Amino acid sequence: MTPDLMEEGAQRVAKLRGPDLGSTTESGGREAGYGRIGTPGEVDVTHGRILYLEDVSVSFDGFKAINKLSLDIAPGELRCIIGPNGAGKTTMMDIITGKTRPDSGTVFFGSTIDLLRHKEVDIAQMGIGRKFQKPTVFEQLTVFENLELALKTDKGVKRSMFFKLDSAQGDRLAEILETIQLSGSVLRMAGNLSHGQKQWLEIGMLLMQDPKLLLLDEPVAGMTDEETARTAELFLTLKGKHSLMVVEHDMSFIRTISEIVTVLCDGSVLAQGTLDEVQADERVIEVYLGR
Ligand SMILES: Nc1ncnc2c1ncn2[C@@H]1O[C@H](COP(=O)(O)OP(=O)(O)O)[C@@H](O)[C@H]1O
Ligand SMILES: [Mg+2]
Repeated sequence: MTPDLMEEGAQRVAKLRGPDLGSTTESGGREAGYGRIGTPGEVDVTHGRILYLEDVSVSFDGFKAINKLSLDIAPGELRCIIGPNGAGKTTMMDIITGKTRPDSGTVFFGSTIDLLRHKEVDIAQMGIGRKFQKPTVFEQLTVFENLELALKTDKGVKRSMFFKLDSAQGDRLAEILETIQLSGSVLRMAGNLSHGQKQWLEIGMLLMQDPKLLLLDEPVAGMTDEETARTAELFLTLKGKHSLMVVEHDMSFIRTISEIVTVLCDGSVLAQGTLDEVQADERVIEVYLGR
């Protein structure tokens, strides 16, 4: 790596850490972790939260899509989010990822990164990966090429063309292929995969960037029962290594993977607890589960 690239990287990390995360100790010396400046993936979770939302609101033409929403997620947690259509689930993800700016409220990644001060691309680079509902893989490329491409998104077309995986990246790619159960399909065109396989491939592409937090919007919609079961297994293996926020309507899928379930309604949290607890909640039955 050239000195100016290193400088650029150091500046990016400094910017990423923000002005309120001082790099000096109480006595004025450099903190011990300073030498790890080359790993921009570090997020301060000493307060036990990877994601923290407080009193977040956003209106679209006077309609409050998100209304004083507060919610937090622990590192390594797999949080399920359920709720009726229009509850604000996707809008919440838009806010976390910087796609939509809230009118008010607080959104933090770890305890030091104020997400409302960062742009969508920066937020993705800081370690928040997002899976939209529709699979968005490159259909004309192979499974391998799709995964390889996921490492180069920030490099621009010209440099991407000459980009080669180093051996650690190669190992990582192989490991992810195993995880998403596509090792046997490395050279297949992504366009020829089943719907479920495309969804896994896209998750694999997100994993290539080793995200701290993964936001998954209705990941099993349109999958066969078998694909859904495999996706549940996949998420259970990801839990702990990554934090996950999963929006789904499929209750048997939620039952397989869930710890804490948050019920969103009218842009705020209606109920939260185990699936049994929220399913027994009268208000949840009223607005979402039906009688
Ligand atoms: N960009 C937007 N402009 C106007 N209204 C929007 C926009 N995004 C979402 N909404 C509205 O906000 C509400 C919440 O939508 P959404 O977050 O998509 O709900 P969910 O994902 O829970 O089904 C809906 O009433 C939707 O029509
Ligand atoms: Mg939605």
